[in-house]
Amino acid sequence: ASAGRIDRPLVLVGLMGVGKSTIGRRLANALDRSFVDADEEIERAADRIVSEIFEAHGEAYFRDGERRVIARLMDEGHGVIATGGGAFVDDETRALVLEKGIAIWLDCDLETLVERTSRKNTRPLLKSGEPRAILQGLKEKRSPAYAQAQIRVVTDDGPHEATVNRILEELA
Ligand code: S3P
Repeated sequence: ASAGRIDRPLVLVGLMGVGKSTIGRRLANALDRSFVDADEEIERAADRIVSEIFEAHGEAYFRDGERRVIARLMDEGHGVIATGGGAFVDDETRALVLEKGIAIWLDCDLETLVERTSRKNTRPLLKSGEPRAILQGLKEKRSPAYAQAQIRVVTDDGPHEATVNRILEELA
């Protein structure tokens, strides 16, 4: 990938289960840059896991912390940042990411999301009902925000390497 465009952090956005953390780690490796996961940073700052934060304080409180953590990460010089699925939907967070980073929307079809999130269902937003219906609703509602990312890459069930290579091509 050309050096010119990647002096800004590459920020992976998209729905839960799409592979932001897995792809993010591999992308950072391929570029020999650092990787950081925003949800993990939130958990470290709060000393609680995400589902506990939702349970104890609700979603609005989580979004406040998420916004602050991502603002800090954007300034820390990381190569690649994975965000939680709702982060880029927040107007302030999205504006900041678009201004200071390069947003990469990882997109895939609903079946794949349902499959991937069912393997480890620790997501608070999927607990209030039927995961497929919730994911479908979120996909419809959030896609217009995700579509503002500078780059969109479709992650199918192919090897992660193929997805990383497509991102590298888009950056070149
Ligand atoms: C959320 C996605 C989660 C986590 C939180 C809320 C969302 O991250 O931030 O449960 O609003 O889509 P992942 O996308 O990594 O699952």
